[in-house]
Amino acid sequence: MTNSSSKIFFAELEYAMREHRFLKNNPVAEALENGKANADQIKFAIEQYSMLPAWIVRLLAASRGRLHGWSDVQTELSNNIGEEAGSKTGGLSHVEILIRGLAEELKLDVRGVEYSQATQTFLDEMLQAIKTQSPAFAVGIAYALEDSATPELLVLSRVLNGYASLTKQSLPISAITLAGQSQPAEVTTMEEAKKLSLDDFLSLHVQEFEPGHRNRLAQALTERLTDEVKQELKNGFDFTLDLMDAWWDAMVRDGKIDSHPVFDRAALGGVA
Ligand SMILES: [Fe+2]
Ligand SMILES: [Fe+2]
Repeated sequence: MTNSSSKIFFAELEYAMREHRFLKNNPVAEALENGKANADQIKFAIEQYSMLPAWIVRLLAASRGRLHGWSDVQTELSNNIGEEAGSKTGGLSHVEILIRGLAEELKLDVRGVEYSQATQTFLDEMLQAIKTQSPAFAVGIAYALEDSATPELLVLSRVLNGYASLTKQSLPISAITLAGQSQPAEVTTMEEAKKLSLDDFLSLHVQEFEPGHRNRLAQALTERLTDEVKQELKNGFDFTLDLMDAWWDAMVRDGKIDSHPVFDRAALGGVA
């Protein structure tokens, strides 16, 4: 497939992705910003969210394992896995940087967190589909994870700041990072990586790591995009984003956040 028709294909996926409610109207961020969530509920959501970065290498590696003969794509997934494991952060893995930041800046220890039923289902269903569906479907899952990472991390940033505000701690994420316009920190050594703040972590991801993963994966896939591959890749992509919608909905439900008004003021003629 030519570069330009491949660009259109991925742009269409991106457009459809942005309409998903976990990105457009994220139920946790909205409950928080509408004053309908307490600190315990948001803590629950952050803890459950942290399972995804903890699982990302496993999911990408499983997807890579299905792509026999797609050497460019496998190479890119290997680069990506290498980054997650610390190739650009002085050997400190991304999930480790996140765990340290949550502990130091928000006093949240996510290490011993138990999977909620919904989180277990979300992760298991992705892994199961990667193993049993077609290779193109499996790489569609990987692509969905990379493409959604930037906007989802920006949602996470709002949730982290909301949690800080509910617990009367300093807001970890700066306005410039929230706006997607920060200048990421330079980091080459383990010592530097250990000093990265949550703001640095988010900034590096939304400015560099995640757009790089998405763009390089799209580029590596370009030559593989027959009509059949495109259809299956899109099926895997949509499947993953639907699971993400359900997962974020469950964070609200299981954390017992009331994301709906207790009563409808308009229906009561404004009396309430
Ligand atoms: Fe990462
Ligand atoms: Fe990524």
